[in-house]
Amino acid sequence: MVQEDYPRRFMIKNICCIGAGYVGGPTMSVIADRCPHLNINVVDLNKKRIEAWNSKDLTKLPIFEPGLDEVVGNTRGKNLFFSTNVGESIKKADMVFISVNTPTKSRGIGSGEASDLRWVESCARDVAKYAEGHTIVIEKSTLPVKTAATIKSILNSVKNSFKDTEKSFAVLSNPEFLAEGTAISDLENPDRVLIGGEDQDAIEALANIYKSWIVDEKIIRTNLWSSELSKLAANAFLAQRVSSINSLSAFCEETGANIDEVSKAIGLDKRIGDKFLKAGPGFGGSCFKKDILNLVYLSRSLGLDEVADYWESVLQINNWQQKRIYKKIVSTLFGNISNKQIGILGFAFKSNTNDFRESPAISICRDLLEEGAILKIHDPKVEAKDIEKALENEFSDIDNCNNKKGRDQCGYFVVEKEIEKTFYDSHAVVILTEWEEYKIIDWENFTKNMIAPSWIFDTRNVIDQSDFKSNNCNIWKIGNGIKN
Ligand code: UDX
Ligand code: ADP
Repeated sequence: MVQEDYPRRFMIKNICCIGAGYVGGPTMSVIADRCPHLNINVVDLNKKRIEAWNSKDLTKLPIFEPGLDEVVGNTRGKNLFFSTNVGESIKKADMVFISVNTPTKSRGIGSGEASDLRWVESCARDVAKYAEGHTIVIEKSTLPVKTAATIKSILNSVKNSFKDTEKSFAVLSNPEFLAEGTAISDLENPDRVLIGGEDQDAIEALANIYKSWIVDEKIIRTNLWSSELSKLAANAFLAQRVSSINSLSAFCEETGANIDEVSKAIGLDKRIGDKFLKAGPGFGGSCFKKDILNLVYLSRSLGLDEVADYWESVLQINNWQQKRIYKKIVSTLFGNISNKQIGILGFAFKSNTNDFRESPAISICRDLLEEGAILKIHDPKVEAKDIEKALENEFSDIDNCNNKKGRDQCGYFVVEKEIEKTFYDSHAVVILTEWEEYKIIDWENFTKNMIAPSWIFDTRNVIDQSDFKSNNCNIWKIGNGIKN
């Protein structure tokens, strides 16, 4: 696509994306697919990750995302390249996307709430050092409001310290709204694209790229701070809906109402809408908790304590929901799960992803292990080593458990490849992720091998009650209470 009406410095040809993670990888793959005239280099410091992006076998990409293999197959080696050459790629680039990790700070000021911006800062320093000519720098990662000011300040001060009059920068915010599991379709057909900035030429240069496949009406231009805040606000609103429906799931269990029926009834009101009203074990993922913590931290820093308390309560309900499920399992199994085997179906924070960051499965499994349970964990996509990492060594082997015999004994876990094996000799099986394969289990057969009185805890409501034929097993469904 020729951008004839553009001044030369805004004719974008080379793009560099720093960070080959869940956001950078899929986003750049789709841009490369839709814009064959652009040359895109995705760079990362993590050599192993880059090797995986370059693996010949497209099933070995570092991220599992439906449709990603096809898009990467179409573009890699043509106009999409993955490498660790950060400096070289920045040097060639007309436009640099920053898509690095921004986890919650674990120490110092703002610990447990504010975002850790060390990786963003290091990117800004790399861009300032290596960029040549005019470069448009784009925040893609979710960042606290006003981060663009930090990036600008670093770019300009490094530039001034080198007395480099050749370099110039424009900074834009272009937050990504893709959800994992549907990333490719979200990127190909987004509800909207948001571009925040002050430099109108830079905004239009970026809009022009999206216009290759997205109609202009869907491209919203705002100021920088509105764009940064809108991303935090969108995630906070979505998380708030999940906490709202989860709070009512407990209400349903006490009263005999059915949470799926309530969701349907309220979701048909157009003003409310039917999305994000599915009760579950609590929200996970890398964004919701982090972004709300950010909002809470920023609100308190601005002296807005009531605003901070309001958003904090969304997280409190989320933690409470996870604890509530764990307590329900323990109390149903007669208040004692020490040495009892429990099957766990699903470790990812939702289906269709191998991502387990902040997954409710982590906290629920840890609590069950703390009570002494023996867990058999299955997930179709999360690797055993990742499950082990998430639950840490203290629970990972039987020897450690045996060493503690006679004292306060914690449990241990094993990872199972076959769903059926999680049922053998188990007192209960808990569904924590809504994978398709868990919806078509042969309940009658599988539950035969459980220890009576046995229980299935369906925290995602994936089991169709009419399919659940089992003579000797009880079922608990979230927001439905007990049905025998
Ligand atoms: C989210 C936002 O949706 C996306 O726009 C943003 O760019 C990144 O954060 P993601 O974390 O990938 O995306 O997943 P999402 O589909 O939003 O689900 C988040 C969590 O909420 C999951 O644990 C999911 O299981 C849970 N959830 C979602 C529910 O429990 N019920 C629902 O109805 C919807
Ligand atoms: P997200 O979900 O936001 O995409 P990820 O953690 O999946 O986050 O990916 C972020 C990637 O950014 C990681 O692979 C990490 O190695 C990379 N990264 C972080 N800092 C830098 C940097 N300064 N230069 C290059 N890559 C970086």
